[in-house]
Amino acid sequence: MRGLLPLLALLAPNFSTALSIDDYGASAGSSGLEVAQANSQAIVDAFQVRPTRCREDEPPLPPPRIVQIPMRPLYPAPPMPPPSRIALAQYNWWVATAKNERAHNFRPNIFEMLRLEDTLIENITTVDSPRFNFHMEDMLNLEIRHVDIVTDVTKQTAIAQEHHETSLEKFGRALWDFDLNIPMFPFNTDGFDPAGKNIWIHDCTIENYDDAVAVKPSSSKDGVLRTCSEDVLVENIKVKYGVGMSIGSVTPNNDNCVNNVTFSNIDFKDPFKAIYIKTNPMDEDKPGTASITNIVYENINIESPIWWAVYIGPQQMKEPDGAGGGCMTYPFGEDCPAEPAVTIQNVTLKHVEITGGVTFGVVRCSDENPCTGFEFKDVKYTSWASRAEGWTCENVYGEEKNVQPENCLKSE
Ligand SMILES: *[C@@H]1O[C@H](CO)[C@@H](O)[C@H](O)[C@H]1NC(C)=O
Ligand SMILES: *[C@@H]1O[C@H](CO)[C@@H](O)[C@H](O)[C@H]1NC(C)=O
Ligand SMILES: *[C@@H]1O[C@H](CO)[C@@H](O)[C@H](O)[C@H]1NC(C)=O
Repeated sequence: MRGLLPLLALLAPNFSTALSIDDYGASAGSSGLEVAQANSQAIVDAFQVRPTRCREDEPPLPPPRIVQIPMRPLYPAPPMPPPSRIALAQYNWWVATAKNERAHNFRPNIFEMLRLEDTLIENITTVDSPRFNFHMEDMLNLEIRHVDIVTDVTKQTAIAQEHHETSLEKFGRALWDFDLNIPMFPFNTDGFDPAGKNIWIHDCTIENYDDAVAVKPSSSKDGVLRTCSEDVLVENIKVKYGVGMSIGSVTPNNDNCVNNVTFSNIDFKDPFKAIYIKTNPMDEDKPGTASITNIVYENINIESPIWWAVYIGPQQMKEPDGAGGGCMTYPFGEDCPAEPAVTIQNVTLKHVEITGGVTFGVVRCSDENPCTGFEFKDVKYTSWASRAEGWTCENVYGEEKNVQPENCLKSE
């Protein structure tokens, strides 16, 4: 198992000067547990000497949190509290998770950031994250560039298969779909999960087994710096595997909001999904609404999608707690209703080319609250097998131009 391998990072939340983890003892270009731990410590030290502050015009807040998870050793995984009968210490987090559902919730993210302003992260490589690579909430003015995310997908698959009996008990079919013979990502290793405003992620590579980028919603209840996740640009990214350049999942909770997000110049190779906007069903205990508006995917190249190349509709993965609709194997015979409390308006697909794969596109909206203002322009699917299913589209309105296959959008 490889470790964390940062090359060089500039981390500048609210600082007038940049920090390089090189100055805190990081070493570049080699891997292994010791280097991983030293590099992790360098990141911790870099942050700790200059704690971030909140905005001066805001009321006092809990201190911003940068939980740099490698403060705890990443490998081997520590025993789960309360101690499990399984000797977890000899396993890494993925194995621990495959064997013990408790490990799932304790898996650390490599970068966890909350409520930072003016942050730049560059020139860093993360390797085999136990869980997400970058989880960032309530951020204002964030730039990430020249960051590479590497995940040993073969290793994950081997671990999933080796431990599938115990895992299947814990995760149900979530681990491995033996009918379709595809991995179902129990070890979700999201690339970048940002929420906030003015976010620019560019010139990165992502190889992982869950969302490559998932823009998460913000709401007036959770967000202090921002109450809507908006003005996000993700461009010039190469994705290998992954489960999409995603919005969501978005639950109708408080007034959750995602607005003005553009994904541009994205190359996908063997993605599980590529263009992915996902809603969650309402939690009856916490009713609310949500909106997803002004989303653009342009210059997108999708090669050999494993599952849907375009999927806009109810979330397919069950949430880790098992909540969520029965959409996992849609369209095969499960009840998977679209959520009317999430409004989806103004989604543009422009210059999208899809080659290979056998499934294509789904856009499913509620008849009570249809999707409107969609625009599909120069969207082309060339199936290697000419076995393309056409679109599956329900209650979605807008304009199509040069779309092949056609007839997803109904005119308004
Ligand atoms: C990041 O890499 C770029 C390109 O190699 C380089 O110009 C820049 O100085 C690097 N940043 C830091 C903080 O070293
Ligand atoms: C949308 O976000 C981009 C940044 O990605 C920004 O430049 C642009 O002004 C925003 N558009 C609107 C209408 O606010
Ligand atoms: C959707 O696009 C239309 C046409 O550009 C615009 O008038 C409308 O305000 C947009 N909706 C939202 C929620 O921004």
